[in-house]
Amino acid sequence: MKNYITTPIYYVNGEAHIGHAYTTFIADTLARHSRLLGNETYFLTGTDEHGQKIEEAAKKLDKPTQQFADEISATFKNLWDEFDISYDQFIRTTDSNHKKGVQSAFLKMVEKGDIYKDFYEGNYCVSCETFFPESQLMEGGCCPDCGRATSIVKEESYFFRLSKYEKPLMEYYEAHTDFILPKSRRNEVISFVKGGLHDLSVTRTSFNWGVHLPDSLNDPKHVMYVWLDALMNYVTALGYGNDEALMDFWPATTQLVGKDILRFHAIYWPAFLMSLDLPLPKHIGAHGWWTRDGEKMSKSKGNVVDPREVAKHYGVENFRYFMMREVPFGQDGDFSQRALIDRINSDLSNDLGNLLNRVIGMSEKYSNFAIDSVDVLKYHSKEIDAAHTIVDTLPELFNDLQLHRYLEELWKIFTIGNKAIEEHAPWVKIKEGRTDEALATVALVANLLAKASVVLHSIMPHTTATVADALGFEINTASYNDLIVNKGLLKAFTIKKIPPLFPRVEEPLMDEAPKAMLESAPTVAAPKKEEKKESTVPTEGLITIDQFFQTSLKIGYVIEAEEVPKSSKLLRLQVDLGEESPRQIVAGIKEYYSAESLVGTQVCVVANLKPAKLMGMLSEGMLLAAKDADGLSLIRPEKPRSVGSSIG
Ligand code: ME8
Repeated sequence: MKNYITTPIYYVNGEAHIGHAYTTFIADTLARHSRLLGNETYFLTGTDEHGQKIEEAAKKLDKPTQQFADEISATFKNLWDEFDISYDQFIRTTDSNHKKGVQSAFLKMVEKGDIYKDFYEGNYCVSCETFFPESQLMEGGCCPDCGRATSIVKEESYFFRLSKYEKPLMEYYEAHTDFILPKSRRNEVISFVKGGLHDLSVTRTSFNWGVHLPDSLNDPKHVMYVWLDALMNYVTALGYGNDEALMDFWPATTQLVGKDILRFHAIYWPAFLMSLDLPLPKHIGAHGWWTRDGEKMSKSKGNVVDPREVAKHYGVENFRYFMMREVPFGQDGDFSQRALIDRINSDLSNDLGNLLNRVIGMSEKYSNFAIDSVDVLKYHSKEIDAAHTIVDTLPELFNDLQLHRYLEELWKIFTIGNKAIEEHAPWVKIKEGRTDEALATVALVANLLAKASVVLHSIMPHTTATVADALGFEINTASYNDLIVNKGLLKAFTIKKIPPLFPRVEEPLMDEAPKAMLESAPTVAAPKKEEKKESTVPTEGLITIDQFFQTSLKIGYVIEAEEVPKSSKLLRLQVDLGEESPRQIVAGIKEYYSAESLVGTQVCVVANLKPAKLMGMLSEGMLLAAKDADGLSLIRPEKPRSVGSSIG
């Protein structure tokens, strides 16, 4: 099977921000996924360099337009290279082959009788490169898309008979209900088309920076409308109008766009393709809009988030994971460092990272890093079946571009692993001499991690390759088939000890962030009170937030508890903190809690206290409790949280 994945080609009037990175991350994920499944894949991205907007931006900087376009286009390409975006081609609309291809498409449309010459008078938005009918303008004649002022433009123009395609388009939408994804966006397009399609002006005489009409038409003052020029990139990149060497990748599998340009891709583009007698793409995937602190990002507001900065501070794959996990595909999302940090600490560090650390730690202790899946099905078929049930739900979610749901489901595999360790407590089995069982649990978790890494690979390619390397295998089509399609288990191997993959992030790392951004998602919501002029908190002995975070507080799970002989106060507990083995904590709570009542409950633990000896026993932490005249209560999370979650 051949898959062709595209991003929009980005305007070169400014550098990339996180919105552009988001589209490109998703497209890269689709391309990598397709390759992993063994499909022939072609992934296109690039830059859109023509039109009045670019001409004006270059003029402002007093630069030749081509030089300006070259410079900005290079910043996009360099960024994607730094982010290891696996594109097969980076197209530029100023490439000569592209221009030739657009001209042949234009001629074909003329031959088809779909293009005629007339006059156009209308309200034109330079920024959006679009004419708008009077009825769609906002107050003061402003553009309905970007809000900027439009101007009346009257010019001779060639028109594309868009109206002719109204019915064929409607029929196409009816017959292909998954043409537009998410499906919720379909209605919006259908109602626009139902409202009636006017023929589209597809040439301009008011500026010069664009693709000129083919010489045979002998009309040199016309340049092509930038959207006709730009949309054609998806086929000129495959050789349309030239050697056509790659045209067998057409029709595209998924063309990714932001919701801002869905109309161009779901109406104009299919109509152009129908005119060219080319098949239509299988899916147009339109994602939502990223804002910053609830506001549209713009240079003038100075609130644009630079993707390079985010990647530099948090790691490009953590950033990638965050964007795809945080926001349902199609919906808008707000960028905040706090939300990103939470995802890193809880999903990546606690769930994935801890599980890997535990496998490494346990295998080191119990079997000198040797893992063998021989007994996994004997002791853990329930867990393996549960993981496969999850894996079976993933393709549909992926194909529907529900990547946040895909990740949410995938993450349940880590929960199965963490639970299995808690339930089967391999350290107890080792003590009891049930080594086979203990090793089977360790191997189970290694297999769960392996399967999860394979299905996570297209979203976090390098991170998962590192996990796979530690687990003695490589992620490729063969291992995808073994572990996912055929539901096999890992061969015997020796674990590689690697340092923790996801160091916890305690506070925002991008210091240039405006204050509002850091405060946008407080960890603990303060009750709303009337505003007070002055704080009534005593000023003596105050600590800073940094000092508070020097204490590592974690959620623990009590695996074992027993009374300490000859002590009226002490209980000895084994508490799981999500580390490779449980901690022994000796706590003075015997007067208030029986040992049995504590087993299987969650507690809050000070996890970075220096170990101490109590009655000759090592204590590796302290439980949080509140005591008053009536007694003592342990502090516990209101609802169970993942073992090892940090409190703060
Ligand atoms: O529209 N949130 O180029 P463009 C999410 N050249 N995505 C965003 C975003 C945001 N805040 N800002 C930008 C063009 N994007 C045309 C396309 S295609 C034939 C021609 C992403 O540079 C999103 O994918 O304005 C959006 O559709 C695209 O960048 C617009 O990029």
